[in-house]
Amino acid sequence: MHTKENNTCCCSFDFCKETTEWLMSRTWVRPKIAVVCGTGLGLLADDVADSQCFPYEDIPHFPISTVPGHVGRLVFGHVNDKACVFMQGRCHLFEGYSLCKVTFPVRVFKLMGVETIVVTNASGGLCEDFKVGDIMIIKDHINLPGFAGQHPLCGPNDERFGIRFPCMSDAYSKVLRKMAREVGHELDYSNFMREGVYCMVSGPNFETISEARMLHVLGSDSVGMSTVPEVTVAKHCGLQVLGLSLITNKVSLDYSREERVQHEENQAMAEMRAELLRKLLQNVIARYDEIDFNIMETLNSH
Ligand code: HPA
Repeated sequence: MHTKENNTCCCSFDFCKETTEWLMSRTWVRPKIAVVCGTGLGLLADDVADSQCFPYEDIPHFPISTVPGHVGRLVFGHVNDKACVFMQGRCHLFEGYSLCKVTFPVRVFKLMGVETIVVTNASGGLCEDFKVGDIMIIKDHINLPGFAGQHPLCGPNDERFGIRFPCMSDAYSKVLRKMAREVGHELDYSNFMREGVYCMVSGPNFETISEARMLHVLGSDSVGMSTVPEVTVAKHCGLQVLGLSLITNKVSLDYSREERVQHEENQAMAEMRAELLRKLLQNVIARYDEIDFNIMETLNSH
């Protein structure tokens, strides 16, 4: 993070610009949509036609994911003739990255001309009604690390990205959520499509039962270790956001429950259900041109 004392940052506007120029001089694709593939969801990039891939380690200043289930490359190309870029793998706070480094790719996407970011993740279900394998459209989030000062926008604000005090009450686009619901309905996903509040914890440990109960009481429907920093930075720089969370495990809220949550099992569950998410995403992208973001205010909140 850059501080008041040290006004240079590994993720400054100039670094973002340098990375953007590096990428744009190597690909003809000018994406309007960026997709972040969460744990076990790298397959979402399988629909990309005429793909061009850049491993993160080759891209100047890019953070490199160290987590199993995250390939670690950018895939440029077209889905249903729509120019897209996919992040196959992301970085997390628990890996030791600062949140401005974690969110660096989002600002690069903005400088490239991206309008909409789709963030996906694997999360643990807190809501009693949720089942393993459900897809949750993220309606809102709770930025728990942010409450403790772990926030990607802490430090001097660069107005070229956005304002000092951004509004987060509409972080997840109502029009995109509505479209995702409609597409889910058309695909006959209604039995396993949910909508809810995602809570970010820093990890890397999974929650204790008391912590899980607290998150539930606070209004969280699912919990995970990612996404919120990217969404916060995306909203700050004016991107539209769609969040899709795959419920890979039920979080234990009860001391009598014997299940033990494991990353490998979550990853396997995400891989099993990734195909359903891929179809949903492909159909949302196919209908993307129908979206009028200006009608947002006229939609009722859900
Ligand atoms: N807790 C935190 N993060 C997670 C979980 C969980 O239960 N499942 C997948 N990511």
